[in-house]
Amino acid sequence: MNKKKGRVFSGARPTGRQHLGNYLGAIKNYVDLQKDYDCVYCIVDLHALTTVEDTLNLKQNTNEMVLDWLAAGVNPEETIVFVQSHVPEVTELHTILSMVTPLGKLTDLPTFKEKVRMQPENVNYGLVGYPVLMTADIVLYKADVVPVGIDQAPHLEFAREIVRSFNHRFNTKVLIEPQMKNTVIPKVLGIDGKEKMGKSLNNHIELAATAEETKARVLDMVTDPARIKRTDPGNPDICNVFTMHKIFSPQADIDMVNVECRRAGIGCVECKTLYAKNLNQELKPFREKRSELASKKSLVDEILQDGSNRARKIAQKTMQEVREAVQLP
Ligand code: TRP
Repeated sequence: MNKKKGRVFSGARPTGRQHLGNYLGAIKNYVDLQKDYDCVYCIVDLHALTTVEDTLNLKQNTNEMVLDWLAAGVNPEETIVFVQSHVPEVTELHTILSMVTPLGKLTDLPTFKEKVRMQPENVNYGLVGYPVLMTADIVLYKADVVPVGIDQAPHLEFAREIVRSFNHRFNTKVLIEPQMKNTVIPKVLGIDGKEKMGKSLNNHIELAATAEETKARVLDMVTDPARIKRTDPGNPDICNVFTMHKIFSPQADIDMVNVECRRAGIGCVECKTLYAKNLNQELKPFREKRSELASKKSLVDEILQDGSNRARKIAQKTMQEVREAVQLP
């Protein structure tokens, strides 16, 4: 096997069935990174507890998300796919790291302030420690590289600081300062054409939806608001349907829409029907693979079990080094 460039770690909350935004923003990248790195992908169920009120769906959501990852090309033979809480060493490391973490820095983070704004009735202790737990995730597995979107950049910078404090405080080198791999995430808008695609806004298109469901969602997409009548010329440059054509349609269709929309040669319904057809075509192999995987009842559990066994070996070794560095008796 060829030598890889190092270890990648990434975590994602168990949000259930994934949508086009998740795919273009994260999953595609997860799949591609496997070529050059040893990858560890973690479903962060403990992080989810900071905001989730109802834990009833955690297991189901984990299962659905893993199926999407696998169908998209995450390869569990090489990549470690596991659930955060299955490797409890992370909570121990979290506690130790919390001792070198200044409280004021945590409460100053924009991500924390945002959470407080969003759930003022539930400002729990876990929410404050969120970035410490995230740091524990990364350093427990000695990750060299963490792919993150811009929203998580402050957390990664923070993780680097904690690692430096720890290594300095205990005069050691056991923890590795992770590098940030800034992933260029295309901003995928929802079918409303305004907000970022997301489950909570119900403006998303699920990867695992049927072709019919997908078509119905696409036909609901908001287009150029200035184009009211079929005979009005449209402006593809500001139309989300055109943006999506550029991602999923063959070049000939993109060129056609780019010309015909501007001169009202095609209408929005026609344009969307074409996009739905192309999108369904692109997703077909994924959907077939997903159904096949889903029909094997215990497959996901087995993969997660194997993943946590492999993850735990790394984790136990790191914790031994950490305990020694800290000189715990
Ligand atoms: N904080 C990340 C998010 O909300 C999830 C996460 C947890 C993570 N641990 C991580 C991301 C470690 C990268 C590395 O999306």
